Amino acid sequence: MSEPLLEIEDLRVRFRSDEGVVSPVNGVSFQVHEGETVAVVGESGSGKSMTSLSILGLVPAPGEVYDGSIRLQGEDLTKMKRSQMRKLRGNEISMIFQEPMTSLNPVFTIGNQMIEVIRLHQKLDKTESIQQAVTMLDLVGIPEPERVLKQFPHQLSGGMRQRVMIAMALSCNPKLLIADEPTTALDVTIQAQILNLMKELKDELNTGVILITHDLGVVAEVADRVVVMYGGEVVEEATVDEIFNHPVHPYTKGLLASVPKMTGPVEELGAIKGSVPTPSEMPTGCKFHPRCPIATDLCKQVHPQLEETTPQHFKRCFHTEGGVKHDEHERSTIS
Ligand SMILES: Nc1ncnc2c1ncn2[C@@H]1O[C@H](COP(=O)(O)OP(=O)(O)OP(=O)(O)O)[C@@H](O)[C@H]1O
Ligand SMILES: [Mg+2]
Repeated sequence: MSEPLLEIEDLRVRFRSDEGVVSPVNGVSFQVHEGETVAVVGESGSGKSMTSLSILGLVPAPGEVYDGSIRLQGEDLTKMKRSQMRKLRGNEISMIFQEPMTSLNPVFTIGNQMIEVIRLHQKLDKTESIQQAVTMLDLVGIPEPERVLKQFPHQLSGGMRQRVMIAMALSCNPKLLIADEPTTALDVTIQAQILNLMKELKDELNTGVILITHDLGVVAEVADRVVVMYGGEVVEEATVDEIFNHPVHPYTKGLLASVPKMTGPVEELGAIKGSVPTPSEMPTGCKFHPRCPIATDLCKQVHPQLEETTPQHFKRCFHTEGGVKHDEHERSTIS
């Protein structure tokens, strides 16, 4: 395989407060290649957004990335100055958030906002920028782009606003697009349209995409590879086919079992009991052990390491085929 576009290695984020230190991201590693969509899944609080904010250099204070590296085409983003990061955002890396209203400025027209982004990043003059904005809106399937350019964000529907966000995110032709729950606020038909659109644009522009979502249906639809997060770490990673057809981690199996099947008899939903522990009350050993149906004493005491079970399939569990060594570094930081 070619050199990865993005390479996250042993990423660790911490928040210090009077009550102590919590680490919502604790040794996360994964890669994204050009033209590849990597889905990051996991329950609420598992550290998905904090991981993506780390890539953008936007972990909110007093949080900080305190260990690990994030290399974009070989260059470590965690070592970059704020001004360099600012240049990178919206240039080489773009982000689409869940609620476009929070990222679009309500007092400026769509045209003002898009043209500013385009002029800033592509060094085009005003007429060329307007033309480029029209082309991008057309590309994301917005009818009458010239009219939409004159409108304010509140005059558009949720689906249209999300399309505008995607058009803006892509108008600087980023190498990496991070989409954090980009479709959860939209109805199902629009959701499908937006996802198809992202897929087409990715193929056309060869952008690497990190797609953060709760929705495994969406994952099956658009992802090439899947990273499953739990309690601030990766517990399984594999191709989308492997994850759906041969999941190995009990947490991944639980997530898949809680998706209603479209075919066959209706089965009881196998939702995972309990909830994700907060960073301040992480259990020792395997973080999933209090909820795991196959946990043993070993799981309560020793923290399993992420290991490759079959080529390109990684898991963090003692009790699936192929034993796993414990991780000395993480074990020492638990207590
Ligand atoms: N300012 C903060 N101070 C301390 N901890 C924080 C802060 N912000 C977030 N966290 C913690 O970081 C953890 C991971 O949060 P994150 O937003 O990355 O989860 P997520 O996987 O994106 O969840 P969701 O699916 O709900 O978006 C959470 O448990 C949260 O409590
Ligand atoms: Mg989130």
